[in-house]
Amino acid sequence: MGSEASQPLTVELGDRSYPIHIRDGLLADRALLEATLKPLLRANQVAVITNPTVEALYGEALLSALPGRQVDVFSMPDGEAHKNLETYGAAMDFLMAHRHNRTTTIVALGGGVVGDLAGFVAATFQRGVDFVQVPTTLLAQVDSSVGGKTAVNHPAGKNMIGAFYQPRVVLIDTQTLTTLPPREYTAGLAEVVKYGVIADAEFFSWMEANAAALVARDPQILEHAIRTSCATKARVVAADEREASVRAILNFGHTFGHAIEKLTGYGAWLHGEAVSIGMVMAARFSHKLGLLDQGGPERIRDLLLSLGCPVALTQGLPASDMMDAMGMDKKATDGNIRFVVTPEIGSATLTANYADAALREVLDTFSQGQA
Ligand SMILES: NC(=O)c1ccc[n+]([C@@H]2O[C@H](COP(=O)([O-])OP(=O)(O)OC[C@H]3O[C@@H](n4cnc5c(N)ncnc54)[C@H](O)[C@@H]3O)[C@@H](O)[C@H]2O)c1
Ligand SMILES: [Zn+2]
Repeated sequence: MGSEASQPLTVELGDRSYPIHIRDGLLADRALLEATLKPLLRANQVAVITNPTVEALYGEALLSALPGRQVDVFSMPDGEAHKNLETYGAAMDFLMAHRHNRTTTIVALGGGVVGDLAGFVAATFQRGVDFVQVPTTLLAQVDSSVGGKTAVNHPAGKNMIGAFYQPRVVLIDTQTLTTLPPREYTAGLAEVVKYGVIADAEFFSWMEANAAALVARDPQILEHAIRTSCATKARVVAADEREASVRAILNFGHTFGHAIEKLTGYGAWLHGEAVSIGMVMAARFSHKLGLLDQGGPERIRDLLLSLGCPVALTQGLPASDMMDAMGMDKKATDGNIRFVVTPEIGSATLTANYADAALREVLDTFSQGQA
C-alpha cells in the first residue's frame, strides 16, 4: 500500500481532467501543499470558503501554504440549513467586496456542504473561476468532492439549484478525519461500502477483512479505502459526467435512503446512515427480483453492521408512505421508478420492469423494524 501513496488519481475528462491527491498529513506538509497549489493559481487572488468548525482546525495550515497572496476567507455558518441561496448571495457579496476577478481561485475547505456551495459559487462567479476542493469529511473525500456536482438547496427540495462544474484538483488529507465526529465518520463509511457493492467485489472482501481497522481509523487502511473509492467514482464520472447512464449506479441505496431522510425529517438520520439502511433494502429488493443470491443481502448487512452503520429503521415507516416519498405514482404501471440493483456483489444495474408487489414486500419487512 505504501507505494501507491504518492501517485495521484486522475479524473479523465479531456481538457478538464484533474488529479486527486490523497495523502495522510498533506495539510501539515507545508512544502508539498505549497508546491501542489502553486502551479494551479493563475493569479494572486484566492478565496477560501469554509465554516468556523473546519477553519479553526485546518484554516491556518491551508493559509500558511499560500504566502504572498491576497487570501480572503469566507466562513459560512456550519450546517446543511445554510447550503442555500442566502449564503450563496453572501459569498458573492464577499467576493465583490474584496474585488476578486476572473482569475481568482476558490478553495473549498470543509465537508460536502461547504464543497457543494463553494463549487456553485465557483461555477457562477464571473461565469466560472478556478476551483479547488479540500474535503475534510469522509463523505466529501470519497464522494462529494469528486465528480463536479455543485448545488444549493431550495425550500422546494435539496440540491435544486446547481451546476456541473469540475474542480481543477482535489486535495485529500486523510489526517483530517481524526477530528471528525464518530457519527459523521461512520455515515461516510456507508458510502465506501457502496463502492464495493456496485463496482468492486475484491474491495468488498477487503473491507470485510479490515472492518475493525476501518472503525479504528487506521491511517493506512483508511488511505487505501479512500483511494479505492475515489478511483471508482473517478472512473464512473469519466464514463458519464452528466449522469445520462452509468453514473446512476452511484445512487445505489439512495432512492430508499432519500425517502427515509424525507419521511423522518432531514437530519434525523445523517445522509450516509439513511443510505446504509437504503442499501440493505436495495440488496433485499435485488434478491427478491431474482438477481442477488440468498447470501448477498446478509453479507452487505453484516459488513455495514460491523462498521457500526445502521441497517434497520428505528421507527416504522409504512410501505405506502415510502412509495409516496419515492415519487411512485399509484396509478402508474408496475416498475415506474427505476432502482439501482445489484446482480452480485461488485456490480450494479438499473431495474427494468418489476412488480410493485415485490417492492412493497421489501418495504413491509423494513417498516416492521427488521433488516
Ligand atoms: N456533490 C456531490 O456529488 C455530493 C455527493 C454526496 C453528498 N453531497 C452533499 O454533501 C453534503 C453533506 O456533506 P457532509 O456529510 O460532509 O456534511 P457537512 O459538510 O455538513 O460536514 C459534517 C460536519 O462535520 C464538520 N466537519 C467537517 N470536517 C471536519 C473535520 N475534519 N473535523 C471535525 N469536524 C468536521 C462540519 O463542520 C459539519 O458540522 C450534503 O449537502 C449533500 O447534499 C454532495
Ligand atoms: Zn450519498
